[in-house]
Amino acid sequence: MKITIQDFIRKKQAKEKISMLTAYDFPFAKIVDEAEIDGVLVGDSVAMVVQGLENTLPVTMDEMIYHCKMVTRAVKRALVIGDMPYLSYHLSNEDAIRNAGRFIKEGSAQAVKLEGGSEFESTVRALTKAEIPVMAHIGLTPHAIHRMGGYKVQGRTERAAQKLLEDAKRLEDAGAFSLLLEAIPSELAQRITEELTIPTIGIGAGPFCDGQILVLHDVLGLFERFLPKFAKKYANLKDESLKVLRQYKKEVEEGIFPSKEHSF
Ligand code: KIV
Repeated sequence: MKITIQDFIRKKQAKEKISMLTAYDFPFAKIVDEAEIDGVLVGDSVAMVVQGLENTLPVTMDEMIYHCKMVTRAVKRALVIGDMPYLSYHLSNEDAIRNAGRFIKEGSAQAVKLEGGSEFESTVRALTKAEIPVMAHIGLTPHAIHRMGGYKVQGRTERAAQKLLEDAKRLEDAGAFSLLLEAIPSELAQRITEELTIPTIGIGAGPFCDGQILVLHDVLGLFERFLPKFAKKYANLKDESLKVLRQYKKEVEEGIFPSKEHSF
């Protein structure tokens, strides 16, 4: 049965943890779904882990839709959320609805995610009014790396923590069905989680969130440039793949492949 945003909310009420991962294409999305992960984010991290770009800022709406289509073709069970790329919702609410609507109409996603605090309260309200469920995203928001001066933990001072708590409440009020918390202290994430009725999904936000998300390529060991402190590498598919491909090369060079078995 397909997971819905109501299942996310019910899980929080039942104190059941929510699992999420990113995915960007058909084969990996299929594996994530077969592992019965609750939610798949077609993240704009695609820019870094698939497109090989420096940060997430350059990825376009058309590229996000292209990836979202591949993911939703594969996913039968998980909730699929399209990640609104930089400048796809910053100019006006009309623009935001048009772009978020593309994730729903063209990408077959069930919801969208957008970065930003209470500055985007009216955007969340407008999308919700247009029947587009929104996951809000606060804390370390990678669209703001130039303002933040890099990928830094947020909400460390009392003032910054208060602002994040207020943002969280206002985004919930505006209609967000869930809130992603990135790179903030565990105690702050716990406080936000306890004060909201919508589920919090953490990445680098400690164990008290209602759910967790990681970037798939970090989990599988497919992104080499850096591994954030909060990411756990569960496998090293880069090394595994290298081993296999070197074996293939050797067999071709030595005339071992193709054997009779692989010939007509
Ligand atoms: O794009 C992304 O991968 C994200 C992470 C926070 C999960 O937004």
